[in-house]
Amino acid sequence: MNVLQKVTTLNELWDARSILPEPVGLVPTMGFLHEGHLSLVKRACEEVASVVVSIFINPTQFAPTDDLEAYPRNLERDAALLQESGATLLWTPTPEIIYPPDFQTWVDVEEITKPLEGAKRPGHFRGVTTVVTKLFNAVQPQKAYFGQKDAHQVAVICQMVRDLNMPIEIVTNPIIRERDGLAMSSRNTYLNPEERRAALVLSKSLAAAQSTYEKGERDATTLRRIMEKIINTEPLARLEYVSCADYDTLEEMSIISKKALISMAVYLGKTRLIDNVVLE
Ligand code: PAJ
Repeated sequence: MNVLQKVTTLNELWDARSILPEPVGLVPTMGFLHEGHLSLVKRACEEVASVVVSIFINPTQFAPTDDLEAYPRNLERDAALLQESGATLLWTPTPEIIYPPDFQTWVDVEEITKPLEGAKRPGHFRGVTTVVTKLFNAVQPQKAYFGQKDAHQVAVICQMVRDLNMPIEIVTNPIIRERDGLAMSSRNTYLNPEERRAALVLSKSLAAAQSTYEKGERDATTLRRIMEKIINTEPLARLEYVSCADYDTLEEMSIISKKALISMAVYLGKTRLIDNVVLE
């Protein structure tokens, strides 16, 4: 098995990158890796000759009230997991490398960032698209791997890649879940045992909406109500939004007549969780 190479500075990255076997795949992450992240790494290992993983907790995608300081980290464990998964190169830039003091260029994707996560987290996607552009420019991968867990993020990245003619194929992987249905997330570590149990309302309500859809229901309001009702039965859960949107535009639908994304954000205590299902 190959040994995972670790780099920090841009020069170290470029030296290592210049001799990597092509094609190169990039898996951008914020670390504290779990099976969801590793599924992207494993998929990349099957599809490209070299797999670069970045770990960078990107400050510009967190609001001042978000959990930037508390965001979990464990670089040693992450590196061991990446070595096991067969990744080639780990890049862990510092905030100063990504955002030097005179930094002043931002990537802003317009319409598709406005609903859902964009409406609830102003500025979040500007941080994501800016850092992902920087990661793409630095690593120059032919393919980049993202999880369907962050469905809105995938839609925004695909739009950006098209709009800016980035010569990169975006590959999306399904959501990896715990045995009981909770979507894996680095933020699940914030949940106390009661919140962890209550967090099942996300996947339960999505499953209820999906099975109602599969039985023939096409009224989006009905599906949203079914999900709201299930979430509201859980006293520890506070619903932020449920959505039943056009998969391509992310605009809310009234009747589901084409591919749709049902998604939600729910607070368990201070922890904000998101989850989604695609209705084909
Ligand atoms: P992070 O939350 O660390 O996620 C890194 C990648 O792992 C994302 O593409 C995310 O969708 C995917 N992922 C997370 N949980 C998953 C799960 N349960 N199943 C499948 N995939 C999962 O997303 C980010 O970091 C950042 O916004 C980033 C793109 C790195 C830019 O800073």
